This record gives sequence, C-alpha cells and structure tokens, in this order.
Amino acid sequence: MEREHDRPAALDHPRAPRRPRGIPYFEKYAWLFMRFSGLALVFLALGHLFIMLMWQDGVYRIDFNYVAQRWASPFWQIWDMALLWLAMIHGANGLRTIIGDYARKNAPAAPACALPSRPVRASVPPC
Ligand code: HEM
Repeated sequence: MEREHDRPAALDHPRAPRRPRGIPYFEKYAWLFMRFSGLALVFLALGHLFIMLMWQDGVYRIDFNYVAQRWASPFWQIWDMALLWLAMIHGANGLRTIIGDYARKNAPAAPACALPSRPVRASVPPC
C-alpha cells in the first residue's frame, strides 16, 4: 500500500530500494484469511442463527440453564469461540482494507460522500 506520496520528501536517493519491513507476504495471507474465514463464517454464523432462532422452540427455550448446559460441551465452546474470534478478526481486517482504500490522497469518492448529512460527509477526507 506504499504510494509515491508516502515517501519522505528529504530522501537522498528516491529510487533506492526500500529495506523490506513487516511480515513477509502479509497482504497475501490477509487476502487468503478473508476467503477462508468467510467460508467458515457461512457455516458458523448461519448455523448459529438457525440453531438459536429456528431449531426446536427457537429463542423460547433459551434460559440460563440452556446456556450453561450448552457451554459445558467442548463442541459448542469451540464453535462459539471460533465464531467470535473469526468474526472479530475478519471484520477488523475488512475495516483495515476499507481504511486503506479510502485514506489516500487520490482515493475514489467514498460511499459516505452520498449521505445527506453535511457533518458526516465533512468527516470523510475525499468528499
Ligand atoms: C457469511 C459469512 C461471510 C463471508 C462469506 C464473508 C466473505 C468476505 C470476503 C470474501 C471478503 C473480502 C472482499 C474483498 O476483498 O473484496 C470480505 C470482506 C469483509 N467482510 Fe466479510 N464475510 C462474511 C461475514 C462477515 C462478518 C460477520 C463481518 C463483520 C463482523 C464481515 C465484515 C467484512 C468487512 C468489513 C469486509 C471488508 C469489505 C471490503 O473489503 O470492501 N464479514 N468478507
């Protein structure tokens, strides 16, 4: 995501190769993570909604006892923790992508630019 305007202005040799830094191939692994976590989330999130809202009596059977019994099982412990962690990391990395897309001088107009609220539009730099 390094662009020409990110370079320090006072650099002696602007064409000198940068010293590699950060995790090698980070963006490739982040790209792959979004695909695999997305696939896992289809089963984890839709399965969670189906089981909690539609299966048997749906929400009417959920009480303290139901939750305590459910979370006594390693299967549901792993399911719920995977759902929580994957959604958190997937969502955070997605936001990182969106910020990277729009937080540039030559970024395209953000969808938020179309909003009717002037203060909200003013808070989005490329508007
Ligand atoms: C049904 C399960 C899901 C699938 C199949 C899925 C799939 C994907 C994929 C493939 C991308 C990458 C898009 C790209 O690089 O252009 C993505 C981006 C994203 N996802 Fe998900 N996702 C799912 C659930 C979620 C959830 C639960 C959240 C929020 C916690 C979320 C938030 C995001 C965000 C913020 C992005 C960035 C959007 C962008 O790049 O424009 N996703 N998703």
